[in-house]
Amino acid sequence: MSSNRKILMLPGDGIGPEVMKETKRVIDWFDKRLEVGFDIEEGLVGGASFDKFKTPITDEVMEKALNSDGVLFGAVGGPDYDNLPFSEKPERGLLKLRKELGLFANLRPAIVFDALADASSLKKEIVSGLDIMILRELTGGIYFGEPRGIEDLSDGTRVGINTEVYSTKEIRRAGEVAFELASKRRGLVHSVEKSNVMESGLLWREEIQKLHDENYNSITLEHMFADNCAMQLVRDPHQFDVIVTTNLFGDILSDISAQLTGSLGMLPSASLGEVNEYGIRKSLFEPVHGSAPDISGQGKANPIAMILSFSMMLRYSLDRNDDADLVEKAVTKALEDGLRTADIMQPGKTLISTEKMGVEICNRLDQLSV
Ligand code: IPM
Ligand code: MG
Repeated sequence: MSSNRKILMLPGDGIGPEVMKETKRVIDWFDKRLEVGFDIEEGLVGGASFDKFKTPITDEVMEKALNSDGVLFGAVGGPDYDNLPFSEKPERGLLKLRKELGLFANLRPAIVFDALADASSLKKEIVSGLDIMILRELTGGIYFGEPRGIEDLSDGTRVGINTEVYSTKEIRRAGEVAFELASKRRGLVHSVEKSNVMESGLLWREEIQKLHDENYNSITLEHMFADNCAMQLVRDPHQFDVIVTTNLFGDILSDISAQLTGSLGMLPSASLGEVNEYGIRKSLFEPVHGSAPDISGQGKANPIAMILSFSMMLRYSLDRNDDADLVEKAVTKALEDGLRTADIMQPGKTLISTEKMGVEICNRLDQLSV
């Protein structure tokens, strides 16, 4: 069927393939029931691609990604690849996808499921009911800024250089996504930078304020320094609704907010490009967790972050909010029924494998959709 949506699956390394397999199970469930079907292609990325092609991503896979309606990405990296040069590291595959697909807006929700409020390392009263969205700028800043490199000096020592650089355009388009998200949530945006020490941070603050005053007056805007934000996230996370921040600060703050929820194994993310002339944007969906080589291949991984990443694909790329809600309800139900993978195991609950979690979530999709 030509109206099918094209999904490119890139399972990657470590637990990536295991959690992707369970997500495929959920996609197959929808494929049988939706009027729009899915054409799924698979490709190699990260270490898996390096092993076969000596590069973390081939041109062929890049091409497929550019032509897909959405990419589902597992995880990359592992100890075997630690000593490779930068250009060959598994992470480069992911960074290249983000950059070449123009995925500047990275949405990282941190939601505490009621059933897991005890699983956080923070006190239950601090995290219960939490629902934060971090909007991380993803294609600029110090991750990509020039000049960069390691240089030899004449005295025999070396310098390492990276550059934080942001343009008005990059700041404003990230800000727009954040304000739009906030308008559908609690109407509050915290813009986070280090304008007390960095010029790029000062520009960030000024441009976000301008954008707000021009177009988003109904949203409450607060500015916060990144170090203070890290502290406030563990002190009183409920003060936040949407946080908009740079690539590097977003990387760090989203790990903190992930830990608030109890498990990295629960958190999905969406990376979105600009809307094109046909109203379509490039997109990639990936769990926030990494490849977890220590538990890979043992059936211990939690597939929920990857499955919820597919639900973000339904919501943000395929415009199927009801189906996205259904996936989230099925996951919530599985948790309420006491099903747990090892990372979120609690006394009195039922420990199950990666595969069993996938099967049980599909069973709940069955129950909820009759
Ligand atoms: C993330 C990861 C990546 C990043 C790595 C794997 C390149 O930490 O998505 O948060 O630093 O952006
Ligand atoms: Mg990170």
